[in-house]
Amino acid sequence: GHVTVLDHPLIQHKLTIMRNKETSIAGFRRLLREIAHLMCYEVTRDLELELIDIDTPMAPMKSPAIKGKKLVFASILRAGNGLLDGMLDLVPAARVAHIGMYRDHETLEPVEYYFKAPSSLEDRLIIVVDPMLATANSATAAIEKLKERGANNIRFLCLLAAPEGIKRFTEAHPDVPVYTASIDDHLNEKGYIVPGLGDAGDRMYG
Ligand code: PRP
Repeated sequence: GHVTVLDHPLIQHKLTIMRNKETSIAGFRRLLREIAHLMCYEVTRDLELELIDIDTPMAPMKSPAIKGKKLVFASILRAGNGLLDGMLDLVPAARVAHIGMYRDHETLEPVEYYFKAPSSLEDRLIIVVDPMLATANSATAAIEKLKERGANNIRFLCLLAAPEGIKRFTEAHPDVPVYTASIDDHLNEKGYIVPGLGDAGDRMYG
């Protein structure tokens, strides 16, 4: 699997403020949305264009537009919605899948409680978003489910990843490229990313 660390200075700077425990819920939420804009820009930079016919007020012309079916953004709840909001600012016509998943605090196994996706997932680019890739249990399960529904062109976007999660994820889904702002040091015994930023869901929603 291919892993890209998005090292744009604005992304790195905003991430530092998000990691700081003094940053408020309001600040955290706004920063996540801003980072999502920058990450969305990076993760879509290689999309294929095609020329379409339009009429400007002056003349007809052929002008570039993104080729193929509408993108799908798949958010792993809850924290994925923080990234989703920013992604939708840039791609307002994207279709959206919601995948409700929480980690059992004892076993760290993902528990699915909601799944709703657009009916046709085949031959669409699906960008799965979740700020944290810790054990990768949640993301791995979410993507298995999307594949069962026909998804065949998937990318995974997160803010922070643990090396353990990257390893597990790329073994489970070698066809899914990963984009992250940072690969942190390690996972602790409770499955939290260290140094990380704490629990993204709690920092965004309380
Ligand atoms: C967090 C995070 C990911 C998951 C990552 O969600 O947002 O979804 O854990 O961990 P994993 O890679 O070990 O599966 P959490 O279970 O805390 O749910 P929440 O977002 O609803 O708070």
